[in-house]
Amino acid sequence: VVENHTANLYNFPMRKFEFTFPTRIIFSRGAFDRVGEIISPLGHSFLLVTGRNSAKKLGLVDRLRKLLEGKKIVHFNGITPNPKVEEVERGVELARREGVDAVIALGGGSVMDASKFVAALVPSGGRPWEYVTGEKKFSTSLPLVAIPTVPASGSEADPFAVLSNPEIKEKRGLFSPAFWPRIAVWDPLLTHTLPSSVLRDGVVDIISHALEGYISGDEATLQNGFTEVIVKTVMKSWERVSRGDKESMDDLCWASTLAISPFLSAGRGGHFVLHGIEHALSGIYDHISHGSGLAALLIPYLKIVAEKRPRRVSSLTKALFDVYHWNTGLGEFEKWMKEWGLHKTLKELGARDLKAVEGKAWETSHRRLESVDLSRDDLRRILEAAYD
Ligand SMILES: [Fe+2]
Repeated sequence: VVENHTANLYNFPMRKFEFTFPTRIIFSRGAFDRVGEIISPLGHSFLLVTGRNSAKKLGLVDRLRKLLEGKKIVHFNGITPNPKVEEVERGVELARREGVDAVIALGGGSVMDASKFVAALVPSGGRPWEYVTGEKKFSTSLPLVAIPTVPASGSEADPFAVLSNPEIKEKRGLFSPAFWPRIAVWDPLLTHTLPSSVLRDGVVDIISHALEGYISGDEATLQNGFTEVIVKTVMKSWERVSRGDKESMDDLCWASTLAISPFLSAGRGGHFVLHGIEHALSGIYDHISHGSGLAALLIPYLKIVAEKRPRRVSSLTKALFDVYHWNTGLGEFEKWMKEWGLHKTLKELGARDLKAVEGKAWETSHRRLESVDLSRDDLRRILEAAYD
């Protein structure tokens, strides 16, 4: 039965919420050149956290040193994709030894997430995983400046960070008010040289962030509208960027910040269900990037969750493709992902042990899955559908 999706459109009660958005965001092409004036007031010595190569190769590290001339910059380039406990611990040790005043994260989501842990652990003490498991809670942090180079995670202006623990093959997210960056310097020009594989991962990550609360939370009129506009804008921007229009990177960059912000999530609750499954996947298979894991899981997840929440998913396909029937609409969505190079399967990603992923995802995220009435059997069906 196709429900009339406009029937209750303006009549949803909102949950109560508290809204904080403490990050100062400086957004413009060329913002990176203003880093000296923006960051200088935070102190005299800084821990600069980057990935292994790319920030240095692009000359960003040298540029930053020039822009912060006269300040002490301690460079820590030890962060890998799916950042690990041990990398964070090395960053903390270095920051303590050098007595830095603040932390600068220059890179993508992995670098920013690891930097959040480093900045909070320096004054808080303890070991990273004690906070992930909830044994300890951060109450403070060194000031953190985020300079994103990839539109994807939204980590530059949110209170979340994800960490991997290879010893137990687990990857988990943590929310902490101490994780809000003090400042985000968003310069879309830094994203213009990204390889297209990284951009593809980013696009799927942004769309997934926007959809998590939309699918799993309560109805909320304004937030639904924001979400639909963001997903549509990301899709159109990605089409334009794929055709070579670099200026559309501006919209992708800002969408990545908004997609995970409280502007979308406040007042409706909801959980990061799809992310829970993906974290289990890339926790076991370290070579699988977060974005490509999501790309394999997104449509299968939406198809199974649509059986439980048909109106939610139908509203989405109506907004995106003007098709108010989720089955046909998700077919369109899948076709779009294939056409624009975003579609992936678990098989091509080399994730063969679906049982292991199912076990880990259920162990770490069954509460999230159950919040949208997904059983362990449904989880298995999602993984099987994502396989090929
Ligand atoms: Fe994500």
